[in-house]
Amino acid sequence: MEHYFTNNANLKSDFRTINYEYAGDTISFTSDLGVFSKDKVDFGSRLLVENYLKKGRPMVSLLDVGCGYGYIGLTLAKFKRIDSTLIDVNKRAVHLSEMNIKNNKIVNARAFESYIYDNVTEKYDVIITNPPIRAGREVVMGILKGATNHLNDDGELWFVIRKNQGAETIMKLLADTYTMEVLEKSKGFYIIVAKKILTSN
Ligand SMILES: C[S@@+](CC[C@H](N)C(=O)[O-])C[C@H]1O[C@@H](n2cnc3c(N)ncnc32)[C@H](O)[C@@H]1O
Repeated sequence: MEHYFTNNANLKSDFRTINYEYAGDTISFTSDLGVFSKDKVDFGSRLLVENYLKKGRPMVSLLDVGCGYGYIGLTLAKFKRIDSTLIDVNKRAVHLSEMNIKNNKIVNARAFESYIYDNVTEKYDVIITNPPIRAGREVVMGILKGATNHLNDDGELWFVIRKNQGAETIMKLLADTYTMEVLEKSKGFYIIVAKKILTSN
């Protein structure tokens, strides 16, 4: 069975455009077959971005893990003026993100392929993700727990997760790594901000 995170070189293309408007300006995304939420901005991703736009502290650098066609990382690069790095295991998603960087003339963003953090060498102020629940608990926890190794000490992990996809259980599994705040609960989606628990040694 094909998933939105499977690489399939034979998959045909059927490009479509998704516009997102904010503060009287528009960012325009090219999307395609074989990527997550290809026809419209996902509700959970939008809730996450809108919380970040409203409540995010000024930060310098951001990593969008599982970027898809680039909605989260590029919207924040454009409207929050944060330096954004986008990664995904899906080659087509990375390619679309690169196209969207170019077409929207976003100079403070880049995208590359990575399985979880395998190709990530730097640390960031913010890691943000709508994690790939269908890829399984191991990948989701790899993204969420693994973020500690790629966050600056006062950095923040922002994520969205649905109550019926185990939000409460996942928060319990993260409780030894992060302090967490639920910023919003809407239509069964939780927006969570996590900060590393720093140990003295
Ligand atoms: C729920 S989608 C979110 C996509 C995009 N951020 C958005 O908001 O539209 C999760 C993304 O994670 C990617 N993904 C799945 N497994 C991954 C892995 N092991 N490492 C990195 N990305 C992965 C998928 O390809 C997909 O693009």
